[in-house]
Amino acid sequence: MAERKPLISGNWKMHMNHLEAIQLIQKLSYALDHADYASADVSIHPPCTSLRSAQTVLEADGIPIALGAQHCHWEGAGAYTGEVSPAMLAKLAVSYVIAGHSERRQLFGETDENVNRRLRAILSAGMTPIMCCGETLEEREAGQTEPRITAQVDAGLAGLKQAQVGAMVIAYEPVWAIGTGHTATPDDAQAGCALIRDRVRAGFGAEAAAGVRIQYGGSVKPVNVAELMAQPDIDGALVGGASLEADSFSRIVRFRLQ
Ligand code: PGA
Repeated sequence: MAERKPLISGNWKMHMNHLEAIQLIQKLSYALDHADYASADVSIHPPCTSLRSAQTVLEADGIPIALGAQHCHWEGAGAYTGEVSPAMLAKLAVSYVIAGHSERRQLFGETDENVNRRLRAILSAGMTPIMCCGETLEEREAGQTEPRITAQVDAGLAGLKQAQVGAMVIAYEPVWAIGTGHTATPDDAQAGCALIRDRVRAGFGAEAAAGVRIQYGGSVKPVNVAELMAQPDIDGALVGGASLEADSFSRIVRFRLQ
């Protein structure tokens, strides 16, 4: 079994203008130390308007937090009003890009096919995708959790190479747990992440399954992160609300000490 370093990611969503972003990064850099960065990789995903400022502060102060984006288009350039290309993000030293977040799927009509195109484009630009999947409450209550996740994983990863899948990140985010305060139980979160890893093994082999990092996301907080992270198939957390404050996010990064 490959050693998988945890990845704790802060998805800031549509919060933090560039001045607020600079402040939050500086607070995080005070709150986190080398031991924290040694035990977990950390990424932050500000809105696009804050990426350049975030890059400048991270580089100038030598802060080992990876820069992430929340979204991109799959085309390299063109008449796509409002979009940004993977190459534009890569130029800002962005390392991770979220694709297929449930808010993008539900509010902006993103399909599995879109997610797959986005993944390919992110990989071609030399960045690491964080592909989100997860069932809605209705799907869960209808007993559709497994087929839903399986379908999202299969369609999202279609045509990718084994090595690409083994080096990427997948986030299991049950939609009913996002922003609701209803965290999945450690058992349910583990079951979802194990299902994703099994599906990766079936499609891309044991090496890819051992390498892919699978995050849990959905109301992760300092009080519940340790028991989630103790599960064998959970390799990190995708954190929304609790990533907007340096105190709570740094306590999540330091989950072993909770
Ligand atoms: P939350 O968001 O932590 O606020 O539930 C998680 C996410 O949307 O990634």
